[in-house]
Amino acid sequence: MSYPSVRKAVFPAAGLGTRFLPATKATPKEMLPIVDAPLIQYAIEEVAAAGIEEVIIVTGRGKRAIEDHFDLSFELDYFLEQHGKSHMLDSTYALLDRVQISYVRQRQPLGLGHAVACGRRLVGDEPFAVVLADDLIHATPSCLAQMVQVYEQHGASVVAAQRVEPAQTGRYGIVDGEPAGERTVRVRAMVEKPDPAEAPSNLAIVGRYILTPELFDEIERVNPGSGGEIQLTDALVALLAHQSIYAYEFTGTRYDAGDKLGFLQATVEYALRNEELGDRFRAYLKGLAAGL
Ligand code: UTP
Repeated sequence: MSYPSVRKAVFPAAGLGTRFLPATKATPKEMLPIVDAPLIQYAIEEVAAAGIEEVIIVTGRGKRAIEDHFDLSFELDYFLEQHGKSHMLDSTYALLDRVQISYVRQRQPLGLGHAVACGRRLVGDEPFAVVLADDLIHATPSCLAQMVQVYEQHGASVVAAQRVEPAQTGRYGIVDGEPAGERTVRVRAMVEKPDPAEAPSNLAIVGRYILTPELFDEIERVNPGSGGEIQLTDALVALLAHQSIYAYEFTGTRYDAGDKLGFLQATVEYALRNEELGDRFRAYLKGLAAGL
């Protein structure tokens, strides 16, 4: 059986980024750089590698830098051309040739579920991906490409999942499920941020989803939770009552780059992998470690 393909991805990027203040006071956290590119560029590369060509970014106040980053920059382009340095923006412009980006505004940060719903008109009635750019995932094939395969197998919503330390379940949505193929479980229940003693497992949902369009109806029905926020997990739980959802334990490394420690880990590991900098940076770290 063939299912409608996943052609669109929603990027909620209207959160306040409070864990990274003061850096995120006037700069969107999605624009924080890992080595030399902003987080959101890595995430859009990831969806492009999964064959997705339409990107919908949900922005809010103070997020104009994201739109500017993915636009032409006449002055800078002219300057780089004059100085024989045009190649410095090659990867960004090559990405823009592969995806079409639209923007929609979330006027108030009313939660991740609400942000996803802001993309409804642009998504329409078809399956779509949701990508949280501050979850940076290094994987080959890309995490979303792996998930598209799982979606194509089951024709149902798929959430990315990762095993976490049992003590950390209180920071994630946690899945209870039964095995349904390689690295895949069919979700029985989802619990938002349970205490370790109450967690049904240590399988945590991270920031990649492939969702059926019926999810939008569930978001509309969800009652706002604490702080007036509309949670995506609540809508997923409601969807589970009448559709299957699968959790897929992707292969690869995830960095919580919206958190200071996760951001530092990502910076170090991406710098070590970087062709131009890797060797020098490794030597520097070795020298540093010797002196510790
Ligand atoms: P987070 O839980 O990381 O919240 O949101 P946040 O506000 O961005 O950051 P902290 O926790 O205060 O540091 C998860 C994702 O959902 C988006 C965020 O931009 C992030 O990508 N989001 C969250 C919205 O777009 N709108 C919201 O109202 C809430």
